Amino acid sequence: MISKIREYLVEVEDFKTQSKSELEEFRIKYLGKKGILNDLFAKFKEVPVEQKKEFGQVINLLKNQVNEKIDDFRNALDSSDTHKQTDDFTKSGIVKELGSRHPISIVRNRICEIFSKIGFTVAEAPEIEDDWHNFTALNLPEYHPARDMQDTFFIEKGEKSSSEDVLLRTHTSSVQIRYMENNKPPMRILAPGRVFRNEAISSRSHCIFHQIEGLYIDKEVSFADLKQTLMYFTEELFGKSKIRLRPSYFPFTEPSAEVDVYWGLENEVDYRITKGTGWLEIMGCGMVDPNVLKNVGINPEEYSGYAFGMGIERIVMLLYQMGDIRMFFENDVRMLEQFKNEL
Ligand code: DAH
Repeated sequence: MISKIREYLVEVEDFKTQSKSELEEFRIKYLGKKGILNDLFAKFKEVPVEQKKEFGQVINLLKNQVNEKIDDFRNALDSSDTHKQTDDFTKSGIVKELGSRHPISIVRNRICEIFSKIGFTVAEAPEIEDDWHNFTALNLPEYHPARDMQDTFFIEKGEKSSSEDVLLRTHTSSVQIRYMENNKPPMRILAPGRVFRNEAISSRSHCIFHQIEGLYIDKEVSFADLKQTLMYFTEELFGKSKIRLRPSYFPFTEPSAEVDVYWGLENEVDYRITKGTGWLEIMGCGMVDPNVLKNVGINPEEYSGYAFGMGIERIVMLLYQMGDIRMFFENDVRMLEQFKNEL
């Protein structure tokens, strides 16, 4: 009888199936009420005592192998069933939507790229500044009336004098000072960043906005160099190189100017945004004031340079004809989605 059981063991070992019904037949054959195992257990009584131990061991071995086989095939067949239900290769995949860059970042990157072609590298400095870097070193000493032009958010007011003030930078011009303090000319930098002013929020102004500052210091830098650079820039960004420089005043530049680009008067929008003049103001600029150079330890007899600064929001609004600055800060996806194809 033991040899018969060994035959069963071989049969179980070799058993293979792809179908659930064959597996069920196999189960009934071995484990069913009238199955092989019950039959063997029934015969166990008749086995002579001295063979009982060996007989018991092989029956148990057979029983375990049958159970194992059934479990293995049941699992395999079940999982292939679930694959059959879900593996529909005609189904469309899950579409992963790509986000878009914020229009401020798109334009900031484009401006940085334009200037990088003529040797400007990007510089950064803290948004929380002290009085020296935001005002005093830029030729805006305490009590200078031009400080009023930039309503400041103060973090700490100095007890004795405003030189101890800690504030949120009101412009990226502070980056000029930090860079000049830590580097030697010649230098050519572009500083994009956030700036903060305590202004009433409206369609035209916001208390957080973005600027890009430019600075070039070398021997014999002239106003003509500045103008040529600006013409190159407006041509690259707007496709327009006709500019004019209107005399203006900034404490950190002398002479100072405001830059207008000739936008044209071809359609209604041009009339509206240029108020019928055809000209649009895009930035402030000038030759770095000798006092500023002295403040950072650069000899104004040896070096000269130019600087410029522009608001990024204004440029984005011009390029994409957007009418309200608040849109940049609401992050409404319907607005952002329109910039999907821009890099
Ligand atoms: N800092 C000025 C502002 O926030 C902008 C500016 C004007 C920057 C002239 C300059 C400059 O570098 O030369 O209004």
